[in-house]
Amino acid sequence: MSAAQPLDTEQMDIKAKQAAYHDWEAQNYETKFSISYDQRCIDYARDRFRKVVPEGETFDRVLEVGAGTGFFLVNLALAGCFDGAELHASDISEGMLTVCKRNAEEHGLEVSTEQGDAEALPYDDDTFDVVIGHAFIHHLPVPGKAVQEMYRVLRPGGIVVIAGEPTELGDRIATVVKRSSYKAFMAVTALPSLRRFRKVDAETGETGGEEAALAALEHEVDLHTFRPQDVEHMADIAGFTDVRVVTEELTANWAGWAARTIEGSAAPGALGYRWAMGAFRTYLALTALDENVLQRIVPRGLFYNLILFGRKPV
Ligand SMILES: C[S@@+](CC[C@H](N)C(=O)[O-])C[C@H]1O[C@@H](n2cnc3c(N)ncnc32)[C@H](O)[C@@H]1O
Repeated sequence: MSAAQPLDTEQMDIKAKQAAYHDWEAQNYETKFSISYDQRCIDYARDRFRKVVPEGETFDRVLEVGAGTGFFLVNLALAGCFDGAELHASDISEGMLTVCKRNAEEHGLEVSTEQGDAEALPYDDDTFDVVIGHAFIHHLPVPGKAVQEMYRVLRPGGIVVIAGEPTELGDRIATVVKRSSYKAFMAVTALPSLRRFRKVDAETGETGGEEAALAALEHEVDLHTFRPQDVEHMADIAGFTDVRVVTEELTANWAGWAARTIEGSAAPGALGYRWAMGAFRTYLALTALDENVLQRIVPRGLFYNLILFGRKPV
């Protein structure tokens, strides 16, 4: 019997890296991003969708592309946005789809899954009434190709909604926030009385073997950030009408990244329930500030997330 070959990620093309990384990440993905299927995430998903799709439009067949563990699709279904519809999910990572199916079943939903590449979707033309996506086109070598594929599989009159994609300027600001929060956390927990709050590998960065090779792919899988007008242009080129991109999350996003950076560097359980509730309440308060005040006066390119809407002409 031959010994198992060490994983050589250097030899993988970018799509094999996406699949390997997300297969590996699938089991911890929801913890990392605080994903759940309760009112908090149901409201979050529904609010993203309702920013561009008014209530009243109904759908028979729904597809999520780059669906991951089902965060967007399952929470939107639980919010009642897809009542009575067939639910489909596709992703390049089989591991993610396994968790997606499990999540759907646990919430009384049936989701048909199909492993495949967003740039060459494994579905026939004119199949779906709505095709959605969340936080996935920034992983694709040619995002415009996926937008064209989403157009192809939509029936005439159907709509596309892609949310949770990072803007170019928003992402640059977020990088500064992440670095500063990490440095601040490490400085504060350098005090002997607070050192127990640090996760061990936040100090050493040490893991080993295949695990380390897969974890290191995290720095290779995020390929793009976007200017809102470029995403509108992609949808125009694909043939969509009624195209619009709205952006959201400014101060709420800064607080969110700071909290996630600290949570990622802290020892498991060290921060506790009060921290989690405080972080969530801060996020909600800053979201209200962003939406009610800052959205009117700050240029849309500075907000972190964008949402694309388009309709396939009849
Ligand atoms: C950041 S996760 C987002 C998952 C989910 N939509 C969510 O919001 O939680 C990105 C997802 O894109 C998928 N992905 C990356 N490249 C892909 C490709 N070429 N085709 C389809 N899915 C892809 C990954 O496997 C992963 O599940």
